[in-house]
Amino acid sequence: ESDDDGPSCPGSLIVVSNRQPYRHEYADDGSGTETAADAEGTDSGSADESPDERSIAVDEPAGGLTAGLDPVVQQANGTWIAWGDGEADFDVTDEGNCVTVPPNEDAYTLHRIDLSEEAVDSYYYGFSNQALWPLCHEFPDLIEKGDGDWSNDFAWYRTVNERFAEAVSEHATDDSVVWIQDYHFALAPRMIRQRVPDGATIAHFWHIPWPTPQTFAQCPEGEQILEGLLGNDLLGFHVDRYAALFLDCVEEFLADAVVDRDEQLVRYDGGTTRLITDAMGIDAESYDQDARSVDKEQATSLLEQYDVPADTTLALGVDRLDYSKGIPERLSAIERVLERNPDWHGEFTFFQKATPSRTGIPAYQRLGELVRSEVERINSRFGTDDWQPIVYTEEYVDHENLCALYRRAEMMVISPLLDGMNLVAQEYVASNVDGDGVLLLSDRTGAHERLGSATLTIDPTDTDAFASQLETALSMPATERRRRMNTLRNRVFDGDLESWMGSQFDEIRRVHTDSGPDDDE
Ligand code: ADP
Ligand code: G6P
Repeated sequence: ESDDDGPSCPGSLIVVSNRQPYRHEYADDGSGTETAADAEGTDSGSADESPDERSIAVDEPAGGLTAGLDPVVQQANGTWIAWGDGEADFDVTDEGNCVTVPPNEDAYTLHRIDLSEEAVDSYYYGFSNQALWPLCHEFPDLIEKGDGDWSNDFAWYRTVNERFAEAVSEHATDDSVVWIQDYHFALAPRMIRQRVPDGATIAHFWHIPWPTPQTFAQCPEGEQILEGLLGNDLLGFHVDRYAALFLDCVEEFLADAVVDRDEQLVRYDGGTTRLITDAMGIDAESYDQDARSVDKEQATSLLEQYDVPADTTLALGVDRLDYSKGIPERLSAIERVLERNPDWHGEFTFFQKATPSRTGIPAYQRLGELVRSEVERINSRFGTDDWQPIVYTEEYVDHENLCALYRRAEMMVISPLLDGMNLVAQEYVASNVDGDGVLLLSDRTGAHERLGSATLTIDPTDTDAFASQLETALSMPATERRRRMNTLRNRVFDGDLESWMGSQFDEIRRVHTDSGPDDDE
């Protein structure tokens, strides 16, 4: 009831995202948390023998977005609507496809949307990730459609947006705050507006960059994307530049829209959409605590598993295997450092943890092949019997080991060609509790806006300059490293997840009380 333990939502909260916070899967062995029979039984007393004895395990998909919002939705006792992509998801939901989560705590309702294979192919792999993702990350060449005909994928994108809008309308009241996440739902805001009571507020956070008008011109159905987004009362971006580009696109491609740059708003079709800019933070305190509580030996024994010497100077990369992350560019810079610095051979290791992502898409498959072959080539060029300069793994590393690696690494290398925010940069800083690590950060990330001046800034496409920054990090005196890390830690703790949520909810509150059900006018 009270809001003394964090930011509170001004209405009843409904979150909409593609990725769900909890996924139910069949476990192979008996280690699952509940059996299909238990999960289905709503009465705690029901002890029927069920024919289906496969156990079900709950898994939390990787990603800053879901991990960050979960505690907020818990606190708000809200509703979260997302794609149910787990094998056992619909074994644990009721008739309306709802289940309460987290398991055993029953804090909020997760309403899962069941998507057919064709819907997933066209809406998720197709329009979302082969049109909007490369477009917004300024990779127009990767907008892949053999015959250039997006009509089928866009029709599915529309259909799925409609299904989510329908689901929202099942839960919405006059006091609802509908909070939509990301590029999977550009059409949904306008659809939701038509289906929910007038008092409900619709806000949207666009977690990825917004492209230039020149690039946006290549967006299939671009006008409809803009119209859909202008169904929102509020539209959020991480940094001012993306919001300004959004306004540029509205001006250029939507003749009837009125853009007010001073007020940061757009009037269109009888509605007003206010733009807000606020960079998302992480739960810095919890990374700090987790990093402090890991045994120092843990990183050593983890590295041992990969034959990395305990006393190596360690540089770290942690990313989804995505072409926006600049991983091949990073490998080229590491290679340049090895060429120029024979004295570091045997003393330095670059550890790259990569998580395969969206593997159904050719551009992602090609990237995986390129990265693996580059690692092999560089290692065979410089490696010896007892030292490999690059350790590359796609194996799962759990949160505790991730914190151990963040704490242990002398430097973190983050080199995206374009990245809306980049939470990994902040996770490294919050976990660097010994205070002497160096962050190398591309200036094409949202994170660089706030952290840039205390990082070693990278231009990922300039291999020589990138290599020089790595050399600077390798030789930086401890006092300088501590001074910079101290600044970084202050910024990451000041702009943490709680403060981001607080300011999102403050903005929502302003709009919500303006249009609220029984308010002054
Ligand atoms: P993106 O959302 O584009 O993947 P971010 O850096 O903003 O990039 O967020 C990624 C989130 O996923 C972080 O919370 C990070 O800890 C987690 N993550 C990314 N890659 C890995 C990995 N290889 N292993 C474990 N966690 C990862
Ligand atoms: C980025 C996007 C998120 C997405 C995440 C993981 O952070 O902004 O919306 O959830 O990548 O990608 P995936 O396709 O696995 O959900």
